[in-house]
Amino acid sequence: MKVSVKVPATSANIGPGFDCLGMALPIYNTITIEETVLPGTGIEINMMSEDENVIDEMSFDDIPRDENNIVYKAVEMLYNSIGQEPSELKINIQSQIPITRGLGSSAAVVVGGLIAANKLLGSPADETALLSIATEVEGHPDNVAPAILGGFVLSSQEDDGSIVYRKLNWPEEWDITVCIPDFELSTNIARSVLPQDVPMQDAVYNAKHLAMLVQAVNTKDEKLMKVALQDKLHQPYREKLVPGMKEIMEAFKHEDGVLGCVLSGAGPTMLVISHKYDLDKIKSIVKDIWEPQSIKVDVKTLKIEPKGAEILE
Ligand code: HSE
Repeated sequence: MKVSVKVPATSANIGPGFDCLGMALPIYNTITIEETVLPGTGIEINMMSEDENVIDEMSFDDIPRDENNIVYKAVEMLYNSIGQEPSELKINIQSQIPITRGLGSSAAVVVGGLIAANKLLGSPADETALLSIATEVEGHPDNVAPAILGGFVLSSQEDDGSIVYRKLNWPEEWDITVCIPDFELSTNIARSVLPQDVPMQDAVYNAKHLAMLVQAVNTKDEKLMKVALQDKLHQPYREKLVPGMKEIMEAFKHEDGVLGCVLSGAGPTMLVISHKYDLDKIKSIVKDIWEPQSIKVDVKTLKIEPKGAEILE
């Protein structure tokens, strides 16, 4: 038996919502899991191109193809949760989401693997159980929650390990432009520059702005959203890892129609939120800053993806 699952990209944090806010975006990975019948064949993990050919392994050298692969790890946790061990599995990953750019490519493969394996097992785990395992693998729920649910999601792993999550209504008329630079930044490195402790006033600053953001989204209050999209918990520390980030954020501060510019997840992609704004202008502002630094950028304006991961029939 073979199951394929299509999972959207995600952008986490959205300014003040460090580790708790995320949105699904219409770029997709498809994960297929096949239980092979031949004993002793073990685990096979392949990266596939869009036309379903296996991609030359060299271009994905840093992705483990064995039990250390995060998809396999997630699948193993699911099997273990019902007292079983995975044995002969073939996992194919067809990826459109650029890797290590802050667009949730690892969350997408973890979620896709879990949902496919759950289906193969006869669906023993519900949405909350899948979200818990995915959070365990990822370390935080902000990408995996919207990857599973779609839309704009607030999520939290509570002290007892449980995950609390709610979908919020992102205003349809607010455009999301992702500016994806041609360099990679691993989440591990982007987290390693964050301090263990932060000043009390910075924690209060983020609490205030996150509350404003939730209210702004719920009431489509653009004036409030412009104030809300500020952060002191992660972006200032990550500026040194993303050349041009500060200038790009500064350049959008005073543009009418732009509600804000934030780092997408752990970066290096930048996310611009706007309403009735000239989208070509976003491209030229970002290119004018990045291209002189020999950074190429792919700019895409997208609508939020309301649907989460789906099993392909
Ligand atoms: N909230 C996470 C971070 C998202 O900023 O590190 C990256 O996976």
